Amino acid sequence: MSESKKLSALPTGPAREVQIYAMGLGGGKPSVPVPMDLLEQKAREILAPRAYDYVAGGAGGEDTMRANREAFYRRRIVPRMLRDVAKRDLSVELFGRRLPAPVLLGPVGVQEIVHKDADVASARAAASLGLPFVLSTMSSRPIEEVAQSAAKVAESPRWFQLYWGKNPELTASMVERAERAGYSALVVTLDTHSLGWRERDLNHGYLPFMLGQGIANYFSDPVFRGLLEQPPEENPMAAIQLWGSLFSNPALSWKDIGFLRRHTRVPIILKGILCAHDAARALEAGVDAVIVSNPRRATSGWRHRGARCTAGRGARVERAHAGTFR
Ligand SMILES: Cc1cc2nc3c(=O)[nH]c(=O)nc-3n(C[C@H](O)[C@H](O)[C@H](O)COP(=O)(O)O)c2cc1C
Repeated sequence: MSESKKLSALPTGPAREVQIYAMGLGGGKPSVPVPMDLLEQKAREILAPRAYDYVAGGAGGEDTMRANREAFYRRRIVPRMLRDVAKRDLSVELFGRRLPAPVLLGPVGVQEIVHKDADVASARAAASLGLPFVLSTMSSRPIEEVAQSAAKVAESPRWFQLYWGKNPELTASMVERAERAGYSALVVTLDTHSLGWRERDLNHGYLPFMLGQGIANYFSDPVFRGLLEQPPEENPMAAIQLWGSLFSNPALSWKDIGFLRRHTRVPIILKGILCAHDAARALEAGVDAVIVSNPRRATSGWRHRGARCTAGRGARVERAHAGTFR
């Protein structure tokens, strides 16, 4: 049986519990640890220390990471009883499409540092479950390869996350490549206009991009390649330097959103909005949705999820982790 078939055959919820306990009768155990702290411990054992720290760490004293967790712990669910819950339905509708659960795989760059199959493996896993997969600009495999590989598993939604850099032609090229390859939404990350002060990474002296990891979308881009005197395969250092000079664009402002609208027809989602006023600006700028998330890797001490920003027109958006305007 192929890996993808195995994944989609996995039962969920109570059926999965029964499956595990039945396996236990014959002495079997789940191959992947169930408790999260054990899973984390296994990852630490397997990964190179700098790769583990790159994934597990946050910026500064990691205050934002701690505050995020604490904000979640403060939330409690009060269940209602006697409501006929025999049939569970976790499905939601998003951008005109029904998803099996309100879950998506968020953009995570440079996945090759944790597994050789990188983004291809996670995109295929998401496809097997019918959940949207958000491919990072900093993926280890190009936009087109990930799309083709995931489409072989199932036709499930793929979105592309954009780090909006300094070169407009390059930005337009990536956005158009993603749309052509079937990515059905554009997630624009706004909160990483500079590298975070990540103590763990600094301590290792480790930034994977400087080793040429996680920049497959640049190396495969015709506009990027056209800016180089020699192709990246012949002179990787020059290509890495060019990437570094173009990666982020701290000068972007609300008036630039129209540029993206002109280059894509898919819904535009702004990632990193934390304040109701900014959600209102996003609505005015014509974007379709926001993802409320804070850059624990980019900074420490920013407002965490439990913090409130005074209500404006977009206040309803702040109450949800992710919200669509329509
Ligand atoms: C190793 C790692 C790499 C990440 N790479 C990206 C990325 O390339 N693009 C991006 O928008 N977010 C990236 N993120 C941030 C996540 O998408 C997500 O926003 C973050 O883990 C916080 O979760 P939250 O959005 O639920 O708050 C990365 C996070 C980690 C841990």
